[in-house]
Amino acid sequence: MDIPVKKYDVVIVGAGLAGCAAAREAKMAGLEVVVLTKLHPLRSHSGAAQGGINAALSDEDSIDSHIFDTVKGSDYLGDQDAIELMCSKAPETIRWMEGMGAVFSRDDQGKIAQRPFGGQSFPRACYAKDRTGLTLLQTIFEQANREGVEFLDEWYMSDILYEDGKVSGVIAYDIRDSSPKVFNAKVVLLATGGYGRSFKVNSNAHANTGDALAVVARHGLPLKDMEFVQFHPTGIAGSGVLISEAARGEGGKLFNSLGERFMEKYAPNKLELASRDVVSRAITLEILAGRGVGENKDSIHIDLTHLGKDLIMSKLPELRDLAITFLGQDMIEEPILISATAHYSMGGIPVTKEGNVKMNIMHDTVEGLYAAGECACVSIHGANRLGANSVLEALFFGRYVGQSIIRDIVNIDLKEIEPHDVKESLKKIERVKTSNGDERVPTLRSELQESMTENAGVFRTQETLQNQKNIIKDLQKRYKNIQIDDHSRIYNTDLQEALELGHLIDFSAFIVEGALDRKESRGAHHREDFPERDDEHFLKHTMAYMDKSGNVSIEHMEVVMGKYEPEARTY
Ligand code: FUM
Repeated sequence: MDIPVKKYDVVIVGAGLAGCAAAREAKMAGLEVVVLTKLHPLRSHSGAAQGGINAALSDEDSIDSHIFDTVKGSDYLGDQDAIELMCSKAPETIRWMEGMGAVFSRDDQGKIAQRPFGGQSFPRACYAKDRTGLTLLQTIFEQANREGVEFLDEWYMSDILYEDGKVSGVIAYDIRDSSPKVFNAKVVLLATGGYGRSFKVNSNAHANTGDALAVVARHGLPLKDMEFVQFHPTGIAGSGVLISEAARGEGGKLFNSLGERFMEKYAPNKLELASRDVVSRAITLEILAGRGVGENKDSIHIDLTHLGKDLIMSKLPELRDLAITFLGQDMIEEPILISATAHYSMGGIPVTKEGNVKMNIMHDTVEGLYAAGECACVSIHGANRLGANSVLEALFFGRYVGQSIIRDIVNIDLKEIEPHDVKESLKKIERVKTSNGDERVPTLRSELQESMTENAGVFRTQETLQNQKNIIKDLQKRYKNIQIDDHSRIYNTDLQEALELGHLIDFSAFIVEGALDRKESRGAHHREDFPERDDEHFLKHTMAYMDKSGNVSIEHMEVVMGKYEPEARTY
């Protein structure tokens, strides 16, 4: 049977904030746009962002201060031109969303309310209670629909169509009945989100399996700064589900088993509102030193009881519900158990500010291929992201990249795809589907997630990373020998999970190889054997490439500096 081919101007993969924002722009310019998502758009992980979206709105605050906090937060690895662009457009982005109907919480004067977040000099995070991401996602999805964007829910992209520096569409299949289709397009925008699911304890949706990253990397294209994985300080103990930084922004305090407010030791000025990498390491160190709380002494208390019922119910209602559901603890009555949780992917597909995917360290780009949101690495966040900058990045760059696509597309020709052009790609899915070895997908996935947490988590050494590299090599081999039980066509989640596992294993190899190469500590990447930041040798981006045998090699690329020179980073 011939695979159907459908032509579009733009195909967007991923329907979170970045995907929806770009789709709306492109559609408004009269382009034929389709958005593919393996979920329903409103189940995209953008909707899980709780605490806020940054913008220097108040008279006391300034765009310069937002820029500086972001550069410092990035441990000077963020590209300052991109940071300046995003921060200077943040107020406009908030007004744009507000104008489309996003309902922000208000202060006593009726202005958009803003709360303090870690590593920020001013209360800068605009919010909608503790459901900011969901509020914004509902707004942008609704507005994209209103413009007539076509959304295809429950479609899974299995490959991009790429040859010689040019992209001509994607292959995806309908999860309902496994039927494949070619989406032949002048432009492909990848907006598939982050890669936190390679760790056991994480705050990410099950869907965050970094699909686009692995798909791109398998074509020999680079991934950038993959070693930088953010661990959020306050995941619910055990499950890792997010307790927003808003909890600390509103005044939550961290205590160890001795009742010490231990952040006084680690960040005497900012305390619980130091940046995330600093607080996560402090929490982990307290637990490792035997001062953890809870049955297994592997957690820390966050105490919100002094905030009172009214504040918690009006500003943090979702967090309270989550703690009751996952811990059986009511934060109005008692401190709740938390520990660090893998949360955000600073690395990703290297792109220019306009969203063009880079092919190499000379900044050559792939014709027709763009990325935006968490799967992309514009290098806003460098080695550590500030809370409430991700929602901003996704919305601002989603829209901005949408606009750059509108400009570029007039010079891009459609390379027509015939069904026989995609035979090899389809065979790859078929191989997984008919695979009949003796390795189980859930077993391999657990082994990967547990070992990544153990060996490439908050603290890393040459030994743990080398060990993890060997484990991944072994998993790559065993993956070729997996068994799929479900051979049917209808909602074959067995097949999807197997494809996703292949992606998890592949990009984890990039995380580990980048971490091995980076013999320093910077932001979220902490090497116990190289505890200091080393600007002389490592003030540079990692660009990594995978060969056909799954080996990863590394090059380096310069960081775009600006007016802020690296300084010691204290809070
Ligand atoms: O803590 C939070 O609410 C998360 C926000 C973010 O990651 O930006």
